Amino acid sequence: MSKPLTEELQREVDKRRTFAIISHPDAGKTTLTEKLLLFGGAIREAGSVKARKASRHATSDWMEIEKQRGISVTSSVMQFDYSGHRINILDTPGHQDFSEDTYRTLTAADSAVMLIDVAKGVEAQTIKLFQVCSRRGIPIFTFINKLDREGQSPFDLMEELERVLGIRSVPMNWPIGMGRELCGVYDRMKNQVELFQGNDHSKIEVRKVADYRDPIIREMAGDYLADQLINDLELLDVAGDPFDLDKIGGGELTPIFFGSAVNNFGVQTFLENFLELAPKPTPRVSTSGPVEPTSEKFSGYVFKIQANMNPAHRDRIAFLRIVSGRFDRGMSVRHVRNGKDIKLSQPQQFLAQDRDIVESAYPGDIIGLFDPGIFRIGDSLSQGSEIVFDELPTFSPELFAKVTVKNALKHKQYQKGIDQLTEEGTIQVFRTTSFDDTILGVVGQLQFEVFEYRMRAEYGVEIQLQRMPYQFARWIVDEKIDPSKYRINSTLVKDKKDNYVALFESEYAMRTAMDKNPSSKFLEMAP
Ligand code: G4P
Repeated sequence: MSKPLTEELQREVDKRRTFAIISHPDAGKTTLTEKLLLFGGAIREAGSVKARKASRHATSDWMEIEKQRGISVTSSVMQFDYSGHRINILDTPGHQDFSEDTYRTLTAADSAVMLIDVAKGVEAQTIKLFQVCSRRGIPIFTFINKLDREGQSPFDLMEELERVLGIRSVPMNWPIGMGRELCGVYDRMKNQVELFQGNDHSKIEVRKVADYRDPIIREMAGDYLADQLINDLELLDVAGDPFDLDKIGGGELTPIFFGSAVNNFGVQTFLENFLELAPKPTPRVSTSGPVEPTSEKFSGYVFKIQANMNPAHRDRIAFLRIVSGRFDRGMSVRHVRNGKDIKLSQPQQFLAQDRDIVESAYPGDIIGLFDPGIFRIGDSLSQGSEIVFDELPTFSPELFAKVTVKNALKHKQYQKGIDQLTEEGTIQVFRTTSFDDTILGVVGQLQFEVFEYRMRAEYGVEIQLQRMPYQFARWIVDEKIDPSKYRINSTLVKDKKDNYVALFESEYAMRTAMDKNPSSKFLEMAP
């Protein structure tokens, strides 16, 4: 083993943090991302990311459908440096119509930042994304945003996190007043206050204090807010969960930060604490055991494929999470599934949608590989010994539609399109056991639109989608399956590997089927 490379890898791994921000649309993800990028000097002006979000149809060369809808169909990656760290933010679509891509992107993150609107609390999309992170056991950091607005009390929010998400929390800072009365936050770890100055809150002052009883706070915030702070924090000291890094690391306890992204309030302290507490790139499980990031042999896996980023070139980009070793432009690696060596000559790195050619990259980084159609989601690439990473999870679809091709003569292209798009992970395909109809399953409505669009644009096939009333899919494991038991408010279909899957119209129908078939196992995902 060459010592210099090991040391270099250790150094690069130590400084990296790769995370995703999970939130419900409108909680302030774009705003927070932008503030983080500003700290890192990755963008120069406030408004750059937002402007990009708003004017994407004017400037971007992304998929036509993105232009039409003005939203991000697939996630991008942003990289910047701050205070000796290299940070990779995996962006996830903020629109309600998220897709499996959103979920899968989370497998490339080592931690997550959960952004919550102080008034709205835990919302639907946050719950779904949280559950995917929670299943992986990655640490989750919570940022409660929009503190400058009237919202729920911090205690109520903590209670809501536990009740709805089942996670306990430890506040790292605590608001001094809220909404119009907000005058600052008290940092429980560093014993300092961050205070708004001036009526328009345009300046922020950070002051060291002895503790939360320090008279300086009373002087600056007044008796009412100072007393409230003391009462709240005394209660937290006695009844709150203690700070426990092991529990945070295992995703059992979430550190909470209060702030206001748009006012840049509490963002810097959040970032600094986060960088200290968040994990560096973690090992990934392969068929031959865990692969350490500092292992010298390069390895990585494809977690996302994005088609047609540039329609003029019809290219696809495969997003690769580097797991171990150093990546050098032009290096040869083994494409493990097809057993061929390939040269990685045009890798790209991302800042929002600006693409740069990357010369070298390290574990925790995401690179975009030009894909002439050779990659599939979950593919492993490795140098030397062949490493196969665990399969990426698929997610239980919640929306279903019957698909028919309008022109029967196009059946061959239609089949090719279905096969390729399923492989990319754009959709899941089922066949009915009775009439051999094709049913598509997705987690977000947008996936149907993307499918329809791409069938037309890339395969020249017009299709018709007819929405079906089902909401749940369960893979059935049983030696003997009786299709007659799946006729009321449900139907029985087969997936691509001929596994039986029952689709249910309601939770009630699903429970009834489970009660009637005690010998069957009902799985949320393919076995
Ligand atoms: P998203 O990406 O999660 O969808 O949210 P985004 O950042 O676009 O923010 C949604 C709205 O919330 C924006 O207002 C944004 O300015 C506002 N916002 C973000 N952080 C804060 C905060 O700390 N306090 C308050 N009061 N508002 C915040 P908008 O009206 O939709 O857009 P804009 O006209 O302000 O740009």
